This record gives sequence, structure tokens and C-alpha cells, in this order.
Amino acid sequence: MKSKSSSIFIHMKSSLLEQYVGMLVESELTELAREPFSLDSLKGINNPKQLMKVLGQQFGPPIGGGVARVAYAYGNNQVLKVAYAGGDAAEHNKKEVKNAACLGKQYAIQVYDWDKENFLWIVEERVQKTTIEQLETKFQELAGIPLDIEQIRDLFARSPDMQNVHQHLYGKSKWYSGLADKLKSCNAGAEDFHQNNWGIRQSTGELVLLDLGF
Ligand SMILES: Nc1ncnc2c1ncn2[C@@H]1O[C@H](COP(=O)(O)OP(=O)(O)OP(=O)(O)O)[C@@H](O)[C@H]1O
Ligand SMILES: [Mg+2]
Repeated sequence: MKSKSSSIFIHMKSSLLEQYVGMLVESELTELAREPFSLDSLKGINNPKQLMKVLGQQFGPPIGGGVARVAYAYGNNQVLKVAYAGGDAAEHNKKEVKNAACLGKQYAIQVYDWDKENFLWIVEERVQKTTIEQLETKFQELAGIPLDIEQIRDLFARSPDMQNVHQHLYGKSKWYSGLADKLKSCNAGAEDFHQNNWGIRQSTGELVLLDLGF
């Protein structure tokens, strides 16, 4: 039969052991938390809700959102864009990968990586949001004539009202004719170039498209 003092001793030893194991587990968890995020950890996630949960825990709330996709600040001047809306949202990502490469850096954000299986996410260049005023000013600098945000949108959507302006600019502005030609040859949809679909490349001040999902 154990004496009272030896059972106290055993109890002390086991509580020390517990503390020690606790410390090991804690340091292991701290190490895990410190591990840099890897895109590999997104492999196998084929559910947008799960993807947003993982990215939300890692990067906090998105920096922007549209009807089909949200963008998380990621790495050094990049965003991780997620097709969250189901339906054909991933199709927008697929088109963006194609269109960004086809339009080129002068007119579009650069795409660096993407979910090759399901097109649920894209890693791309992060650009600054524009105000309406900034967008109109940039447009005037590049195209040479002042248009307001609605006219700019209608121009790229090739609205019949803007046909004369299109023809005028096509002959006058290299920036505009270059972009119009690229949109056509890349077969990129340009019906919805609203304010939030343009951004400014911070390093150069260039106006570029950030939503090429059409
Ligand atoms: N490359 C980027 N750099 C900075 N912000 C971005 C970038 N891409 C997207 N965003 C932000 O996320 C928002 C949603 O992205 P995006 O426009 O691509 O999604 P969408 O759902 O296709 O949009 P829409 O509602 O126009 O169809 C943008 O309006 C912008 O605020
Ligand atoms: Mg958009």
C-alpha cells in the first residue's frame, strides 16, 4: 500500500508532466501560427465559403467586394481574389486570367497565380482604388478629352450614343485605340467598366483595369 507522502509525490510528478506537455503543445502551436501562409494550403478547398473562412482568419476582412468576387490584401502589393458567389463566379476568374495576360501590363493588372483546378482564387497585382474624380482626370490625360464616369462606361460598352466619340478617340489617342484593339482581339467583355473596376498602379500612376472577368 502506498504511503500518503509517496502518493503526493506521484501527484506532483504527474502535474509537472502535464505542465511540461502543455508547454510543448503551446510552443508547437506558436510555431504553427508563425509558419508563413502557403497557397498550397488552399489546395483541395473547393468550397468558396470554406475558402473565405480560411482567408478571413489569415488576412482579416476583404479590401473590396463585387457581385461575384472579394479581394483580400495578400503578400507584397498583391490581392487574393475569391469567386464567392457560386454559379459562374469562378468563370469570371478564368476569364480574368486569360484577359489579363492578353491585354498586357499597360492596360491590366498582372496575374501571378491561380487555382488551376476550380478557378476559385487568383493571386494578382494590387492596385489603388480610384475616386470618380481621379478616374475622370486620368482618362482625360490619356484620351485627351473630358468625359464623365457614365460616358466612359458607355464608351467602352460601345453604346451607340458614344459611337462618334469612339471614332474621334480611336484616331486621336494611342492609349484609347490600343485598349480598344486589345479588348476586341482578346474578346474581352467591356460592358461594365464602372468606377470600381479601374485602379491605379501605385508605382507608376498608370490607370489599369482590375476586373477582367468578362
Ligand atoms: N487587383 C486588385 N487590386 C485592388 N483591389 C482589387 C483588385 N481586384 C479587386 N479589387 C477590389 O475588390 C472588388 C471586387 O473585385 P472585382 O471587381 O474583380 O469583383 P466582381 O465581383 O467581378 O465585380 P463586379 O461587381 O464589378 O462584377 C473591386 O471593386 C476592388 O475594390
Ligand atoms: Mg468589379
